[in-house]
Amino acid sequence: MGQKSVISLKNVYFCYFCLCCCCSADTISSGRVLEDEDGDEIMSSGKSGDRISSGQVMKDGSLIISPGKIFALGFFSPENSSDLRYVGIWYTGIPQQTVVWVANRENPIRGRAGTLSISKQGNLVVRNRNGDPLWSTNASSVARNSSAILTDSGNLYLISTHHRGKTNRPLWQSFDFPTDTFLPGMKVSFNATSQLNPVIIPWRTESDPSLGNYSMGVDPRGSPQIVVWEGQSRHWRSGHWNGLIFMGVPWIRVIYLYGFKLVNDGNGRLHFTYTLSSSSQLTYFRIFPNGTVEQKNWSSDLQQWEVIQLQPSSQCDIYNKCGPFGVCDARNSPVCNCLEGYVPKDVDQWNNGNWSSGCVRRTKLQCEVEGSYQRDGFLKVETLKLPDFLDHVGTENVKECGRKCLNNCSCVAYSFVSGINCMIWSNDLVDIQRFEEGGSPLFVRLAQSEIGGSTRKTPQLVIIIATVVAGLLLAGVFIWLLWRQKDKLRGISESPNRKGRVPDSDPIKSGELSADFSGPDDLNVEGQQGSGTELALFSFSSVVAATNNFSDRNKLGQGGFGLVYKGELPGGQNIAVKRLSGKSGQGLEEFKTEITLIAKLQHRNLVRLLGCCIDGDEKLLLYEYMPNKSLDSFLFDPVKQKQLGWRTRFRIIEGIARGLLYLHRDSRLRIIHRDLKASNILLDEEMNPKISDFGMARIFGGNQNEASTNRVVGTYGYMAPEYAMEGLFSVKTDVYSFGILLLEIVTGRRNIGFRSTDNSSVIGYVRSLSLIFQE
Ligand SMILES: *[C@@H]1O[C@H](CO)[C@@H](O)[C@H](O)[C@H]1NC(C)=O
Ligand SMILES: *[C@@H]1O[C@H](CO)[C@@H](O)[C@H](O)[C@H]1NC(C)=O
Ligand SMILES: *[C@@H]1O[C@H](CO)[C@@H](O)[C@H](O)[C@H]1NC(C)=O
Ligand SMILES: *[C@@H]1O[C@H](CO)[C@@H](O)[C@H](O)[C@H]1NC(C)=O
Ligand SMILES: *[C@@H]1O[C@H](CO)[C@@H](O)[C@H](O)[C@H]1NC(C)=O
Ligand SMILES: *[C@@H]1O[C@H](CO)[C@@H](O)[C@H](O)[C@H]1NC(C)=O
Ligand SMILES: *[C@@H]1O[C@H](CO)[C@@H](O)[C@H](O)[C@H]1NC(C)=O
Ligand SMILES: *[C@@H]1O[C@H](CO)[C@@H](O)[C@H](O)[C@H]1NC(C)=O
Ligand SMILES: *[C@@H]1O[C@H](CO)[C@@H](O)[C@H](O)[C@H]1NC(C)=O
Repeated sequence: MGQKSVISLKNVYFCYFCLCCCCSADTISSGRVLEDEDGDEIMSSGKSGDRISSGQVMKDGSLIISPGKIFALGFFSPENSSDLRYVGIWYTGIPQQTVVWVANRENPIRGRAGTLSISKQGNLVVRNRNGDPLWSTNASSVARNSSAILTDSGNLYLISTHHRGKTNRPLWQSFDFPTDTFLPGMKVSFNATSQLNPVIIPWRTESDPSLGNYSMGVDPRGSPQIVVWEGQSRHWRSGHWNGLIFMGVPWIRVIYLYGFKLVNDGNGRLHFTYTLSSSSQLTYFRIFPNGTVEQKNWSSDLQQWEVIQLQPSSQCDIYNKCGPFGVCDARNSPVCNCLEGYVPKDVDQWNNGNWSSGCVRRTKLQCEVEGSYQRDGFLKVETLKLPDFLDHVGTENVKECGRKCLNNCSCVAYSFVSGINCMIWSNDLVDIQRFEEGGSPLFVRLAQSEIGGSTRKTPQLVIIIATVVAGLLLAGVFIWLLWRQKDKLRGISESPNRKGRVPDSDPIKSGELSADFSGPDDLNVEGQQGSGTELALFSFSSVVAATNNFSDRNKLGQGGFGLVYKGELPGGQNIAVKRLSGKSGQGLEEFKTEITLIAKLQHRNLVRLLGCCIDGDEKLLLYEYMPNKSLDSFLFDPVKQKQLGWRTRFRIIEGIARGLLYLHRDSRLRIIHRDLKASNILLDEEMNPKISDFGMARIFGGNQNEASTNRVVGTYGYMAPEYAMEGLFSVKTDVYSFGILLLEIVTGRRNIGFRSTDNSSVIGYVRSLSLIFQE
């Protein structure tokens, strides 16, 4: 290596800096706090008015304004109570005062002589005229010299201004203590096992910010749902979270990228966030003193707040309006009916419009009467808001789920929903609502006589019918497969290089995805991806055919969250198919991230997504095939390593840097890849590098530069220290990984698992070399 490697090293460093210095520069520039290596703070040059530091006292009348002039912190009085003063945060520059957070909601200041300051202990304190503390941040670990900073997201941070050698996490932040408003970017955390997690509590009345009678939070049991409680009893619930939406509000169209996200961090805590598509858009969720939740959107054209949604929005949304086993349908009059097979418990009361006692089963279940489990049946009731308090959530498939319910006499209903899978109820079915469209099906257990049909007269008959049907189906599938195989063979022999339609990829309009992915069915046409975010949907059977039924011979390797197979489309084009394992809980989330991300990205140094396939539990991604596999297969292979000359290595580095620059700077989204490593760099036939595996990527809003996560994902050895240890990530996280990758490419050694006499990593090794060069 000797002299040659010095030059190359300099070259690539130059390239690295010229492409990435810009990223580092702007990371520092907006109202946030970081520490440099010495532990000295690097602060924004933001307005002096965006913070209050120890030694300063803020009087009634002055304001702290966030750097982008979006939020203000100061003293205010609610309407009709001008003598009571509160410290709060509101939108600045919006005519109607919209308060999103109140500090001393229980202890108002009387008169205008209140102050806000940092106490001797370092806490932010609200005091009255006499200097008595009315409210304090009560941060457990405080520093003498702390400051409170207001950000453009509406978060008030308490940070230590001088905290040498320690991490610079906020000591306290207002987002952890919301009042009645939920703001985008706010991360609300819940105990995943506790049933009552009230977090957001409305004002008592519109002119009194003290704690009201309602509260809003998450009930994580089964699958999480948002609940509004009135005292201890439920007032409204959102329905269960299926990974995409809350199923009780089906009309809320969610695009995966934006909107609600619920993440289980694996440590018994759930984190709930809301992300906006554009950070300049102002929106908030607020719960009114009467328990109504609304989302409002600021319209800069109309200069007023627009109501986007209001919950509960109809009388059927009120919790358990029709009592147990009753179904509420807002289109009916009266709104309440009994579930099929059930009759009112108290007919007089029911007919008088008192539905609270609900309904009871008309005919006893066979399993109750004679203990014969197999003799009950299920009636499918569609488009429902599924009942509350489910008893079991499991990974069983539809059939197993039904069998599980049938075999237990205490099971009254089951449902199977993609994203949650098997749901079983054993208690009273409460809070059921019927929607006009959307909703989910519920299979209600009834005595055979209630279901009516003669199909399930005796178990024997059922078995016979099932066998016959299954046999017929099997035969049908077999014939169809044969026929298709023939068709495929003919297609290839007729025109081997045909770039035309793919016969089998009949796009399935698959439920939730169809709105966004109504893609073309002929993929082989060049430039198809140019049409924007359109993606082809493949049928599962066509993918099975392309990959030889996922045979081991076609296996290319193991990507993040699933196996990768090689496939061949009927037209002869090679593809790589990533099959996400249905079992892994993370799968769906990563899948959605990956689809939405890659569909939007077009760059020669990013791997191209051709299409996807969703079929029940199966989630598949179809990529262009890279004959040269991944960079690590060359770099760390003693034989193949020699094929990588300096020129090629330089080209690879340059290509990765370009791809990364596109992700960070040039695409419309700002994307942090978070898992950049040699095995995620794929090489095409000309050894052009392409970045792949976006399953862990995160999107940042235009102005956002840094975020933190409790779920640190990535690969050790490539993870920046602040990310691995604190979960903080930014574009710099990728730049760090890029740096490691660069050293690996230049030295041909793995960062981790690197052993030489006195260096445990490539970094140490390179550092020791650079010392030699200096001498
Ligand atoms: C702060 O802590 C003190 C003593 O533990 C408590 O009395 C006070 O209510 C707390 N204040 C807040 C705002 O939580
Ligand atoms: C707090 O800050 C002031 C002024 O910046 C400085 O004089 C003082 O030494 C600091 N105190 C501590 C404990 O760091
Ligand atoms: C969650 O709450 C339960 C009791 O409801 C408690 O035992 C458990 O420690 C809590 N878990 C966490 C992570 O706080
Ligand atoms: C304030 O008082 C006026 C007049 O009494 C009333 O119309 C208005 O609704 C009140 N506003 C609030 C928020 O209570
Ligand atoms: C809150 O509930 C209590 C008791 O249930 C009731 O007396 C009070 O009027 C309620 N307050 C409001 C603002 O509704
Ligand atoms: C609750 O109050 C809000 C705002 O005043 C109003 O729009 C909504 O209709 C009220 N809801 C009920 C159920 O009274
Ligand atoms: C909210 O407002 C923004 C800009 O005014 C608009 O682009 C966006 O579609 C609105 N969102 C909803 C859900 O109406
Ligand atoms: C409704 O029925 C329940 C039970 O049957 C009874 O306790 C309650 O008083 C009734 N409510 C009204 C308003 O009649
Ligand atoms: C039936 O379901 C109930 C309620 O979930 C459960 O407690 C019971 O163990 C189940 N019985 C059997 C035999 O699985």
